[in-house]
Amino acid sequence: MSCNSSSAIGPIGVFDSGYGGLTILKEIRRVLPDYDYLYLGDNARAPYGTRSFDVVYEFTLQAVRYLFAQGCQLVILACNTASAKALRTIQQHDLPSIDPSRRVLGVIRPTVEKIIGMSQSRHVGVMGTPGTINSRSYELEVAKLDETIAVYGQPCPMWVPLVENREADSPGADYFVKKYIDSLMSKCQQIDAVVLACTHYPILLPKIKQFMPSSVNIVSQGAIVADSLSDYLRRHPEMAERCGKGGECRYLTTENTSKFEELASLFLGCDVQAEHVDLSKE
Ligand code: DGL
Repeated sequence: MSCNSSSAIGPIGVFDSGYGGLTILKEIRRVLPDYDYLYLGDNARAPYGTRSFDVVYEFTLQAVRYLFAQGCQLVILACNTASAKALRTIQQHDLPSIDPSRRVLGVIRPTVEKIIGMSQSRHVGVMGTPGTINSRSYELEVAKLDETIAVYGQPCPMWVPLVENREADSPGADYFVKKYIDSLMSKCQQIDAVVLACTHYPILLPKIKQFMPSSVNIVSQGAIVADSLSDYLRRHPEMAERCGKGGECRYLTTENTSKFEELASLFLGCDVQAEHVDLSKE
């Protein structure tokens, strides 16, 4: 597909494997309410967290192409797994041939820029999906900015299913929340900052706070990504001009729309209407 359209205007695309990106979108809309947004959740193929590099890349590229075809000039991968496994290849390999004037940004770099200033002990924990943790993306990005910071990754494979199954505040969730926090803290007692490196995890925050040692700073990504996008648009007025400003937001899902609408209300705290899309043709 070639769609060179440097003079076109479109909504800011926000992509996630499913619902988690809504926690990012909510903060982005709070900080930048005037822009138009197009949210795309690949709910029918989620979770991405346990999928291979190749599959996450293929699915993410399909989503980016779809959002570009809807007119988005700027797409945020509001998913750590997609940012870890697909962003770099899309930026370096695909964008130049699709449309070099468009942009795809992820959530890992802005998060890392923030956390390196939050740890006094210089020992930081990262909790994420197996895909994000096994990619070592956080370690690599932190090392680029500050080699003296030690990063300890903790995969939390049960946390996304707990959220997706509306068990985030049930007594049964306690076991898995405590289990992964204990496992992380047993790797290094000096950890004093922990990144929730999965967009679903803010929904578990009350329980995470309950079991995390009180000396640890817990970092959620929504506000960080929102501030980073605001800064990006300020530094790139040519891109800001190509993002529509009607304050509108549409929601697309690859799943059944009523299922999406039901769970989206949990993430957003308000009701939304969704439209069904098929990415497999992209
Ligand atoms: N949204 C994904 C992330 O931030 C988690 C959900 C999934 O595994 O698809 O990593």
